[in-house]
Amino acid sequence: MAERPYIVGNWKMHGTRAMLAEARAIDRAAERLIKVEVALAPPFTLIHATRKEATLIGVGAQDCHPADGGAHTGDVSAAMLKDAGAGFVILGHSERRADHGEKDADVRAKADSAIAAGLNVIACVGETEEQRDAGKAESVVAKQLKGSLPEGEGVAAKVTVAYEPVWAIGTGRTPTVEDVGAMHCSIRKVLNEFYGEEAGATIRILYGGSVKPDNAAELLAADEVGGALVGGASLTADSFLGIVVAAA
Ligand code: G3H
Repeated sequence: MAERPYIVGNWKMHGTRAMLAEARAIDRAAERLIKVEVALAPPFTLIHATRKEATLIGVGAQDCHPADGGAHTGDVSAAMLKDAGAGFVILGHSERRADHGEKDADVRAKADSAIAAGLNVIACVGETEEQRDAGKAESVVAKQLKGSLPEGEGVAAKVTVAYEPVWAIGTGRTPTVEDVGAMHCSIRKVLNEFYGEEAGATIRILYGGSVKPDNAAELLAADEVGGALVGGASLTADSFLGIVVAAA
């Protein structure tokens, strides 16, 4: 396991330049919270400005196109993200899968392209409520991992996995700590099989879904949880830093 917990804020489709003040405040606080690795994924339009304002934390994107360039109106390539100052990209978020019909193979193609462009990847997986109720949560997540993760020599070092149960995103509901631990252990097993034990063991597995300052410590203490992918609570420096402090 990596030494420091990794706390990533996903701003989703929120934020104009006024939000840069929050990024600045988070960056300043990160200077003294050195036990935690902190990052933000603002919308495309704010990546470059966030990188300039926030020099200590990681800055990343929320998606990329799998191609290097070409006639893809409205899309952004991994190389463009790198050029704008991104160091990583979140891929396969359930909102991308639901809103844009992204399949596991799309996520893998994007991950390959991102890594080739020099970006790290946060690959998201997670089951729906119906799948959990049917007892299929672990098999659904294992299938997503095997279909979405990039393959190849040395690739594991570029990968972080985020487990985000779809039913916990933005709902205020979370799985029990035991359920989070069980799922993360199951994901670790898949990673060890997929990349080999040595490489698989180094991959951080983040939990995402209604993480808040008041439940972060408990969720982060679950087995195999290496950090958090935070949506709503990352939109203000106050609440996001509450989570970072809980992780320290
Ligand atoms: O990427 C973040 C997740 O979708 C979690 O969002 O913290 O608003 O539930 P949330």
